[in-house]
Amino acid sequence: IPKVGNAIVSRSFYDRAQSGGHRVVVFYGSQTGTAEAFASRIAKECKGLGLGAFIYDPEDCDEWDQLAQFRDMNNSVGQVMAVFCMATYGVGDPTDNSIEFIDWLKSTDLNLSGLSFAVFGLGNKTYEFYNEIGRIVDKRLDTLGATRLCPRGEGDADGNIEEDFLKWRDVFKESVIQLFEIDPDSIGQFVGRDYDVVFHSNEELDKLHVYTGEPYRPHSFEKQNAPFDAKNPILAEVTCVRELHTGGDRSCLHMELNISGAKMKYQAGDHMALYVQNEPHLVEKLAKRLGVDLDQVISLNAKDELATKKHPFPCPCSFRTALTHYIDLTSLPKTHLIKELSNHTLDPSEKENILELTESSEQGRRKYQEFVLDTQRSLLSLLDEFPSVQPPVDLLLEMLPRLQCRYYSISSSPKLHPNSIHITAVLTDYTTPLGHSVTGVASAMFRDLASTRGITATQPGYRTITHFPIYVRKSTFKLPLRPIVPIIMIGPGTGLAPFRGFLQERGTVLGTGREVGRSLLFFGCRKRNWDYIYEQELNEFKENGILSNLQLAFSREQEKKIYVQHLMNNISGDLFRLLKEEGAYIYVCGDARNMARDVHANLLLILEQEGGMGSEDAALFVKNLQNRNRYQLDVWS
Ligand code: FAD
Ligand code: 2AM
Repeated sequence: IPKVGNAIVSRSFYDRAQSGGHRVVVFYGSQTGTAEAFASRIAKECKGLGLGAFIYDPEDCDEWDQLAQFRDMNNSVGQVMAVFCMATYGVGDPTDNSIEFIDWLKSTDLNLSGLSFAVFGLGNKTYEFYNEIGRIVDKRLDTLGATRLCPRGEGDADGNIEEDFLKWRDVFKESVIQLFEIDPDSIGQFVGRDYDVVFHSNEELDKLHVYTGEPYRPHSFEKQNAPFDAKNPILAEVTCVRELHTGGDRSCLHMELNISGAKMKYQAGDHMALYVQNEPHLVEKLAKRLGVDLDQVISLNAKDELATKKHPFPCPCSFRTALTHYIDLTSLPKTHLIKELSNHTLDPSEKENILELTESSEQGRRKYQEFVLDTQRSLLSLLDEFPSVQPPVDLLLEMLPRLQCRYYSISSSPKLHPNSIHITAVLTDYTTPLGHSVTGVASAMFRDLASTRGITATQPGYRTITHFPIYVRKSTFKLPLRPIVPIIMIGPGTGLAPFRGFLQERGTVLGTGREVGRSLLFFGCRKRNWDYIYEQELNEFKENGILSNLQLAFSREQEKKIYVQHLMNNISGDLFRLLKEEGAYIYVCGDARNMARDVHANLLLILEQEGGMGSEDAALFVKNLQNRNRYQLDVWS
């Protein structure tokens, strides 16, 4: 609960808007921090127009009916508006922090006339139900009588979301200027920082709880107390690491994490969330470039004492902790950050070159696309490119996004492994068009873990890693309640992960003497002797009667690619019968961009061919499967 001095401040967005004289409330539905970051930018744009604005986490709201009171505020304190920056997560789902708001919005019949609103939705075109939540919010607010200030914006995370945002922002800003009748001469006079930086002296440190990477509660890594969750992750020891690839140039690790005695429950199909850390050499490079003493302990404190978010990340902490644990250093910089960099150079030509990347004209957007996105220049590359730029480190800490957890589909069943969580992770390693070799943030941790365990040769400067901070994130990807129901599993590459858990689970049921339905698995990889992961285990599942049918697609063993969806055609009659007559569940896991889409298209074709259905009937059949949870996806891109 936010406090000013000893006084408890209301969590209500309405109270805050009213008492703080704010004019714009930016609600955000965010899962991985992207929508939250855009929401902050929207609030900042409004502040730049001289309007009090703040971002608001829907999870903090107990009373959504207060949206209707915006009408009264318009009459008493003057025009007020709401912006909704809403991500769609998974397959058309709301983010965790907006579930209750969306439920309320769908069911309420409150009169919202007098409420002015704008919506920017975030989605990913590789998934079905693109931008579903932004669309629902936009439509429902309109239906309830609120006034749409400007057309809904939609950002595509699979395309250039920055460009989508900038286009919408220009239109949004124009309508805000009109709504609030803002004097054009005053625009741009109000930009400022949201946080003040405080440097703590050594004498102070004894009295402070200094964070060392904990995501929420200080010292929670030293004193590990259940229950463990997102705010209190367990530091789980990695008790087993094994390379699963036997050839090729990629690495895929099987890892087992000890959760014994932790009172932690998980189910087959759940996800493990991993709190990640940036590599020390990146942190040190940035510190050197900016002249930062990494051991200095600081706090970033919100200037607005009514802000619900007092700090952008846990404070106080050292610069090293902030840059290692809390700040995303590697994702590609957005234009608002690049624009800010231009304020920190005295070199006019560099300033001009930087500003060109941030213009919202067609040409500016193309320059940003080419210079930043196509060539994949990170913040560090930009600082190399523009040597005269010297931004204060605390500005970067305020503006860069929070480092996000990485998720892994758990590849074990608690019925067989109650004391450990297994994951199966392929390492992300690639070379950018400029020739820089990059290892993903989590992947670098896995690589160092493998070095620590002597599985791979040690790299210079590798970290000794023995434990991972993790928690279990519940998923809806679940086996049918009755083991007798047949299952069809499609999971090439690491998409196999949750199915290993499913098969283990069915094995334990079989072991108790109960009858288990048929299990079909479609697995694909490049070559049998490169990346056929868990080969021995799959063979054992077959021998033990747990796996009834194993279909293998080795894509690179012949000239023409063979993928899992091609193998579906080999037994299309069987698949149709299982789905139509035997109530089978069908599961797809792995790559969302291509595989899941192609599998979906092929499923429709099979239904048309085997069931003699027209395309509309086939689509309806699939929709029904989805509605009954008999067609489940666990996909990522
Ligand atoms: P990051 O630091 O996050 O870097 C990845 C980014 O690098 C990509 O987003 C892309 O922008 C860029 N990139 C990657 N490859 C290239 C390339 N060739 N060229 C240019 N740019 C590139 N992964 C698994 O291995 N196993 C799982 O079971 C699994 N389950 C998942 C379940 C869910 C619900 C989700 C959302 C993801 C899952 N993932 C899984 C993916 C995993 O969470 C991470 O995204 C992955 O391990 C990479 O993380 P990283 O930190 O190493 O890379
Ligand atoms: P490829 O890399 O040879 O193209 C696991 O990554 C397996 O999925 C690999 O064999 C990969 O083949 C294959 N794969 C790539 N694109 C696919 C798609 N659109 N559908 C199904 N499998 C695909």
